[in-house]
Order: sequence, then structure tokens, then C-alpha cells
Amino acid sequence: MQTINIIDAPKHVNERVRIGVWLTDKRSSGKIAFLQLRDGTAFFQGVLLKNKVDEETFEIARHLRQEVSLWVTGEIHEDTRSKFGYEIQIEELELIGDSDEYPIGNKEHGIDFLLDHRHLWLRSSKPQAMMRIRDRVIRANYEFFGEHGFTKIDPPILTGNAPEGTTDLFHTEYFDQDAYLSQSGQLYEEAGAMALNRVYSFGPVFRAEKSKTRRHLIEFWMIEPEMAFMHQEESLELQEQYVAYLIQKVIDDCSRELEVLGRDPETLKPFTQLPYPRISYDEAIEMLQKAGMDIKWGEDFGSPEETYLADQFSKPVFVLNYPKAIKPFYMKGHPTRDDVYVCADLLAPEGYGEIIGGSERETDYETLRQAIADAGLDEKDYQWYLDLRKYGSVPHSGYGLGLERFLTWIALQDHVRETIPFPRLLNRLYP
Ligand code: 4AD
Ligand code: MG
Repeated sequence: MQTINIIDAPKHVNERVRIGVWLTDKRSSGKIAFLQLRDGTAFFQGVLLKNKVDEETFEIARHLRQEVSLWVTGEIHEDTRSKFGYEIQIEELELIGDSDEYPIGNKEHGIDFLLDHRHLWLRSSKPQAMMRIRDRVIRANYEFFGEHGFTKIDPPILTGNAPEGTTDLFHTEYFDQDAYLSQSGQLYEEAGAMALNRVYSFGPVFRAEKSKTRRHLIEFWMIEPEMAFMHQEESLELQEQYVAYLIQKVIDDCSRELEVLGRDPETLKPFTQLPYPRISYDEAIEMLQKAGMDIKWGEDFGSPEETYLADQFSKPVFVLNYPKAIKPFYMKGHPTRDDVYVCADLLAPEGYGEIIGGSERETDYETLRQAIADAGLDEKDYQWYLDLRKYGSVPHSGYGLGLERFLTWIALQDHVRETIPFPRLLNRLYP
């Protein structure tokens, strides 16, 4: 007899199999017991008929508690009434681990309660579906960059650099030196691009942002490609192909999971159609002012502004050439204007805001040196980064996609915390 996973039940109809499961719910009458089972691959029903099993087994089944773990043995049958389409007619039960007063029930729980129990909440159907989509998107990243000639370069997590500004750094000690947790691997990816042409990173980054919004995590995972001999225009083309690719893989392979999370896969299809529209920051400001929003040229967009802008388009929209004062020091200055950078953010539709930030990078040694000083950074910490402009500097561009921001949008979630196994939020380090 074969031990299988629930997901493979359709291949074993009318066969006798064994499955390791947890009990999510049960219902019984004098003659029949229905056990709702999961094994992490799928959910389905186990049925025990009193006249088909011995008395003891039936009594055990009737008294099982939520989240006990079991071996169940029986025959797989089609079950047209259930969503999954199959069930197991249980003949034998073997208790593995007992469970008592499992805290997460079928009733509504508050979000703080659920987050306090995230280690258990992960077992529920929505978090499971989310983690499957997350995994698929991560694999799609490796596929996409692999197919486009990129090499994965892992940047350090402990660093002396602050690419994204000094206000939200996590400070730590590195023996007798000061160190920070990485905000972004970008500067290291630039070194990688000068060595390997096209590189990318995927890893956790840290921002000690005191913001408590539905879009901010303290620890999140970023994908950061960096391309040598590439100007911004070509980078934008790569970015839209990349986003469309990730979405297509989710549509192809995760339609069941999307439905569990309340996202109709059909509604994602338009976002795979290229190109995405492009507007300038100047145009964006004009649109916002015309709509009566209180914003002046030079100010950064908040969530209402990003949402308004994105709502004017049916696809993600690139906003180009932001003012220098609101972007980091490493970006390339505009060829004919001295007040903006050659950069772009990609804003997601449906109110999800910025999912990608990217730019062409400054290639001139002296200009970059000045920008580092103007940003209040210590030149000696960036000497290695300046070196990249000293020995065969070339045009290069890159971008960063926030994995959780992307997933929040794709899976139509209200809050970015749903998309990461153990969210790090302001005031939350547990579990
Ligand atoms: O715009 P950011 O700060 O850009 C960078 O870090 C660049 N070094 C990227 C690059 O060019 N290599 O962050 C990039 C993306 C944002 O567009 C957003 O999707 C996400 O990272 N992000 C966050 N996600 C969750 N929580 C936060 N606190 C985030 N901050 C940024
Ligand atoms: Mg940004």
C-alpha cells in the first residue's frame, strides 16, 4: 500500500492508500463521521462508516480534536459534492500527535490575535495559498533572470553603507565598528554588474521606518537586478517584461490559490499586456493638481497620490524623472535638466502603490563623490563604490522590486503583512 499526499488523490481512485494528515474539523452522527483533513498539499474529507470500521476506531474518530495529527488508511473515492472532488473512505486511524484547545477556530479572530498566533495561523487555507503564490513568484524570478543571462550575486546583510538614506537604518555593532543591516543590496550589485554584466540579488532588507501603513514592513525581501551597458529606457522595457512574466506564471500555476484569496485570475490578464504607460513626474504633479490634490512640485507622493495616479490607467504605470531632493544619491542626473534624476517608479493599479523603484546610475567619479558628500555620508565608507567609476565606468541601470508589495497587489490583499510568513512590523517581533 502506498503512502501519498492529498493532492495526488485523483491519481489513486479506488486504491487503498495511507496519508499523514491533520484534522481541521469534524462532524458525526450515530452512523457516520466526516473528518475534514489537510496535509499541507490540499484539504479534503475523510468519511468513516460505523458498519465498516471496528467500534474502537469509530469512537476514536468521534472524539478527535482540531489539529491532531493522524495516519489515515482507506480507499480514495470520487466525491462530486466537494470542491476538491475526492475523499477518502477511512478504514484505519492511527493517532500521531494529540492536540488540545487549538486556539484558531472557525469563528472570526482579530488581526492581533492572528498575528500573535502566526506560527499556527500559517496552517489555515488563506496563508497557505499565499505562501504557495510567494514560492511560485520566487521561482519565477530565478527562471526569468536565468533565461535573460543574469547571474545571482548575494550581497552582504551586514554593511557599512546606507544607500537609501540614513533615517531608517538598523544600527548594530560589528566588533569595534559600526554596522547596519542592509537596506538594499544595490551598491554591491553594481560592483557585480561590472564583473558579470547582468546580475541580480534576492534577499531580506531592513528599514527601521516608523511607519505603520498597510504597505510597510520593517523586514522585507527585495529583488534587485543591475545591468551593465544599459540605459534607463532599456531597463524600463526589461522591467515591464519581468512584471508581466511573474504575473503570467501566477495565472498559469496558482489559479486555485488566487481564488482562495479572492483574486479572480482573469482580472490579472490585462496586466500581462505590454507596454505599460509612462508619464513624467512633472505630468503626474499636473494631474494631481488638476484633481485638486494639495501637492507642489518637489514633494514626494504619499499613498493617496500614488493611488490617484494609478487609477488613471488600467495597467501599472511608470512615473519618470523625480526631483533629486526626494531620491537617493546614486541616481544619474538628467542630461538636460539639473533638478531631476533619470529614474522611475512603477505604480501598481488598484491602489497598491509603488512596487518597483529604479534608475540609471551616476557614472562620473566627481559627480558621485559630490552626491555622497551632499547626502551627508562619509566618503571613506564609499571608496569601494567610487572605485567602480574609476576603472572602466560604463552606463548601467537597475531596479528593485519589493516582493511583498508585488504579492499584496497580485493576491488583492489589504495589507502587506499577509504576504510574508512571519511579518516584522512596527512593535511586532513575535513570533
Ligand atoms: O524604492 P526602494 O527604496 O529602492 C531601492 O532600495 C533601490 N536600491 C532599488 C534598486 O534600484 N536596486 O525600494 C524598492 C522597492 C519599492 O518599490 C517597494 O516595492 C519595496 O522595495 N519597499 C518596501 N516593501 C515593503 N516594506 C517597505 N518598508 C518597503 N520599502 C520599499
Ligand atoms: Mg522607492
